[in-house]
Amino acid sequence: MEILGIDVGGSGIKGAPVNISTGVLTAERFRIKTPPGAEPQAVAEVITEIVNHFEWKGPVGIGFPGPIKHGIVKLAANVSADWVGMNADEFLTTATGCDVTVGNDADVAGLAEMSFGAGVGQQGTVVMITLGTGIGSAVFHGGVLIPNTEFGHLEIEGEDAEIRASDAARQREDLSWKKYARRLNRYLLRMEKLFWPDMFIIGGGISKDSDHYIPLLTVEAHVVPALFLNEAGIVGAALAARSQAAQP
Ligand code: BGC
Repeated sequence: MEILGIDVGGSGIKGAPVNISTGVLTAERFRIKTPPGAEPQAVAEVITEIVNHFEWKGPVGIGFPGPIKHGIVKLAANVSADWVGMNADEFLTTATGCDVTVGNDADVAGLAEMSFGAGVGQQGTVVMITLGTGIGSAVFHGGVLIPNTEFGHLEIEGEDAEIRASDAARQREDLSWKKYARRLNRYLLRMEKLFWPDMFIIGGGISKDSDHYIPLLTVEAHVVPALFLNEAGIVGAALAARSQAAQP
């Protein structure tokens, strides 16, 4: 079965149909720039454009950059505050005419990695961290996800971790890899002291550059880049919609 996976990011919204038995994209991904301010209506229009691009009629899974409880957006750090309190499942189902299931972007990326990527077979505690416009987190134990952990907002020196250690911070401040690795290490050491994971999986666009910073990290846990690199969000969004799609 195929499900259209869409990842809503701070800079781009991208999607592709995914074979949910293998985690493989069945067509080339299609990306549109995130509209400035990421207001609900504008984002819904982009999502509809992606749905139309693939002439899609089936179920759609969407990874959204905020915690989602029973379809409702609870917080919007990097998209318009107008999303907060909205039922994104219902809103986007109406906008696209498809059956839409929305989940947190990092949670769904984690699902992709645990199902087909760097976390396959890991039974201990695995923490996936996505580094992009913000920092997302997904925590698994025994392969089971604890959703909406939001550890990008962990305070370090009175500031949200994502303000200092996201990939956007690295680019904004034009940090060398060495300087950036130091910041990321500080964040991961803090996470390690709180959760003692067996493995950290690093996702987001920056996962393709992992050779520049993973060797500089000093955490005890095994640190690996996401196998799906930046596509974990698309694959995971489709996987997360799977149980919904199986319902009559
Ligand atoms: C949001 C998270 C999201 C992360 C990555 C954070 O600002 O609060 O929900 O997972 O950014 O997009």
